[in-house]
Amino acid sequence: SWTTGNVIDEQVAAIREQVGDKRAICGLSGGVDSAVAAALVQRAIGSQLTCVYVDHGLMRKGETEQVEKDFVAATGVQLKVVDAQERFLNALAGVTDPEEKRKIIGREFIRVFEQAQAEIIAEASGDQPVEFLVQGTLYPDVVESGGGTGTANIKSHHNVGGLPEDLEFKLIEPLRKLFKDEVRMVGQELGLPEEIVQRQPFPGPGLGIRIVGEVTKERLDLLREADAIAREELTAAGLDREIWQCPVVLLADVRSVGVQGDGRTYGHPIVLRPVSSEDAMTADWTRMPYDVLARISTRITNEVKDVNRVVLDVTSKPPGTIEWE
Ligand code: XMP
Repeated sequence: SWTTGNVIDEQVAAIREQVGDKRAICGLSGGVDSAVAAALVQRAIGSQLTCVYVDHGLMRKGETEQVEKDFVAATGVQLKVVDAQERFLNALAGVTDPEEKRKIIGREFIRVFEQAQAEIIAEASGDQPVEFLVQGTLYPDVVESGGGTGTANIKSHHNVGGLPEDLEFKLIEPLRKLFKDEVRMVGQELGLPEEIVQRQPFPGPGLGIRIVGEVTKERLDLLREADAIAREELTAAGLDREIWQCPVVLLADVRSVGVQGDGRTYGHPIVLRPVSSEDAMTADWTRMPYDVLARISTRITNEVKDVNRVVLDVTSKPPGTIEWE
């Protein structure tokens, strides 16, 4: 019968058999799939696995630390962190078009990852070559890739699962038979941090596509603060299950007049986009309690510099997509 314990035991045995005394690499995104895949492979082959985390500076508050500290502490995994924040900011300077942002972020990501990969390969000894790449492919991904890549026709999706199809590597895909909720159960059983196991969907290009307008360090910091407040209040209100995800978007090119203290302000709006969904293909805006919205609004306008207005997105998908870009 299906138990998480059985799945783990089976996969650990299969991975050991597959990898032998060779080495493997795994890209971590901060998301649940790559984290659980890495933790499973770590349990099977220990220090023969090296994980790579590209810090592109587009993550939400605390997420990079979760990977660097909590995930490493929970698994003992060998992790190489590449600080590429400057590089991504430079590449994104002056860019406002959503598709262009996505392409740039995807392209830079692959370049940085390949560089890290090359370093790991160079460091490995000749009798323990790096032959394997771990991917957090789930069952729905396997089914979907039979006929293309789902929503990729609408937006050029980028995620860690979409790394270069380097045919020099053999793939390890320990989650191929699992659905998302099963992956979360396996992650929990493996002792991964709750914040990672229960994380809601978050796009590969991160906050880069949640700033409508040019992406700058200052704007990222501002959006990170607003997003952290929204997440904190949604969790405190017990809404994490009802809400599929809640993008928080900065309209960086829009300003509106406000009044705060005894002064006139001319700041930016923040959009809250709470949606309910089964699979992200369609979605409805979540009818969430007004008092929670009020708390989020009050806190964001009080605590986040340059934000003087919070608005609620009441559009379903279709016609709106979940993300604004
Ligand atoms: P849209 O905006 O197309 O989003 O309705 C559907 C779901 O996909 C997520 N999303 C992405 N995930 N890489 C990802 O891994 C991406 O480039 C990307 N773009 C959107 C989005 O958060 C939602 O869950």
